[in-house]
Amino acid sequence: MSIRRLPSELINRIAAGEVVERPASALKELVENALDAGAAGISIRLAAGGLDLVEVTDDGCGMEPAEMSLALERHATSKLPDDLIEAVTSFGFRGEALPSIASVARLTLESRPRGADGWRIEVDHGALIEEGPAALPPGTRVRVEGLFDKVPARRKFLRSPRSEYAACLDAVKRLAMARPDVGFSVEHDGRRTLSVQPSDAPARVAALLDRELERHGLGIDCIRDGMRLTGVVSLPTFNRGMADRQYLFVNSRPVKDRLLIGAMRAAYRDLLARDRHPIAALFVEVPASEVDINVHPAKTEVRFRDPATVRGLIVGGLRAALDEAGHRSAAREQFAAAVNWQIESQPPAVICLHADGALRKQESLQDWVPALAQMTNGAGLADARVDFAPAARAEPATAPAASYPLGVARGQVAATYIVAEAEDGLVIVDQHAAHERLVLERMRKAADGGEVARQALLIPDVVELDEPDCDRLQGAAEELAGLGLEIERFGPNAMLVRSTPAPLGKTDVPRLLEDIAAELAELGTSVALRDRLDHVAATMACHGSVRAGRILSVAEMNALLREMEVTPHSGQCNHGRPTWVKLAHADIEKLFGRR
Ligand SMILES: Nc1ncnc2c1ncn2[C@@H]1O[C@H](COP(=O)(O)OP(=O)(O)OP(=O)(O)O)[C@@H](O)[C@H]1O
Ligand SMILES: [Mg+2]
Repeated sequence: MSIRRLPSELINRIAAGEVVERPASALKELVENALDAGAAGISIRLAAGGLDLVEVTDDGCGMEPAEMSLALERHATSKLPDDLIEAVTSFGFRGEALPSIASVARLTLESRPRGADGWRIEVDHGALIEEGPAALPPGTRVRVEGLFDKVPARRKFLRSPRSEYAACLDAVKRLAMARPDVGFSVEHDGRRTLSVQPSDAPARVAALLDRELERHGLGIDCIRDGMRLTGVVSLPTFNRGMADRQYLFVNSRPVKDRLLIGAMRAAYRDLLARDRHPIAALFVEVPASEVDINVHPAKTEVRFRDPATVRGLIVGGLRAALDEAGHRSAAREQFAAAVNWQIESQPPAVICLHADGALRKQESLQDWVPALAQMTNGAGLADARVDFAPAARAEPATAPAASYPLGVARGQVAATYIVAEAEDGLVIVDQHAAHERLVLERMRKAADGGEVARQALLIPDVVELDEPDCDRLQGAAEELAGLGLEIERFGPNAMLVRSTPAPLGKTDVPRLLEDIAAELAELGTSVALRDRLDHVAATMACHGSVRAGRILSVAEMNALLREMEVTPHSGQCNHGRPTWVKLAHADIEKLFGRR
């Protein structure tokens, strides 16, 4: 075996393995260089998802011909003037990106400083092909063609142009969110696919993530322990099935950090179902000494000196904003959207209470809304005639509608929805979702104040379960007792239940235990006790709730409405769906063409 020093071409190729994984990573490096060069506008051209072409043109400071040759050499950078990596504020500092890309593709570098002429250098897989004068406006243009053409091992791992394009777009979006003051445009296979003008951060985030964030987003701005958190997150009711729109920036650098996922989970823990995810763009500013940016070849990860404090900042900041948003819900707009959508498409049949008091199956929503409007007048509905399965009831209007935000209950529809009249419109409440929320908040309050009241079972219940489930429940017995659920092991495959949480009322005890065991299995032991308690409380709340399908008295309905008004987070259920929607008078008038 003989040891040898590797030729520089091979070294670059090896480095490229770390830095240039796919077209999107080359694109990211080029855009970062453009930003570091002080560009005000950056235009990007891609072909076949970047596999055929990645081209980045900027109007930044440009380079002299000598600088251009140097830029293509390994470990040559203009960004570390005083050797202090800690103090770096530019995206780049390793002096590796350009030579790495040039070693695995054909690269054309054209550049022109202000007040000088342009120059052009063409390199093919690390070897100089030609150089000479070039005509271009001040700035720099880098063209990368045939990435990995001569590196079949790499080419094999690339995905379809479509998914490579998606990755490219995501890379541009991240950087465009980090620098809202810079304009960006993207052209893919000759088609303009993105264009954003310089703007402020909230507008940029909304433009790139979701326009709806401007209405359904919460602005975040808080300072703690010398760190600052800004950004925008979606209201819990405005959520997604994937956690793919959560972005974190540390000192303006886009980073991927598992810390964000956990912190988002914790902040929304009882506001969203496990499989729903908020949208977020969060910007953390910390002193340079608190973070190490030199831990990843592509600089997409950072290491915090004290991750727990950063996590605390994010969870605390989000939680405070969510608490303040209180029972605000994304419901009203959703309702308006639903009306539009259902009128355009084939609407589902709706069972409807008619002005004459009869219940009939309706064919469209237009028919349904007038009937609801009738109900709020209560005219002649007290003795509603029911001509098939009782699905709705109504009460004559006696109490004034004014003074309560969620109004006065006027009736119940499909034994599931409470219809109430508020001063400014018609409120529809999902009784199960709302009640579930109230039970959870009650349990949480009781748990915070010490213990949740217990309801002793006259005869202890024996529930049979798998042995691992029994083990889990036994292990959590003490926590569960604090929530009012008293259990003991009863042989290898059973648990004895002595009391259930009082706020739940009468419950299906075996089902409750099964669900808690499943919850404990999923949470594992790594989750903090407080988080675990909260999850378990939410699972329990689901059991104690007024089910859809239960007929409520007017007094019960009004009691529910009043409790919702004073309960935090009552605008959404434990799974993030809205608990109520309001149809304002103006909306009703619009539906009838009166406006
Ligand atoms: N678009 C550009 N405009 C002006 N100068 C540029 C541009 N792109 C690269 N340069 C110059 O070329 C040098 C080398 O770029 P390269 O991306 O290889 O390394 P870097 O940005 O310094 O560090 P890193 O490897 O971390 O990106 C830069 O330091 C910069 O001086
Ligand atoms: Mg760079």
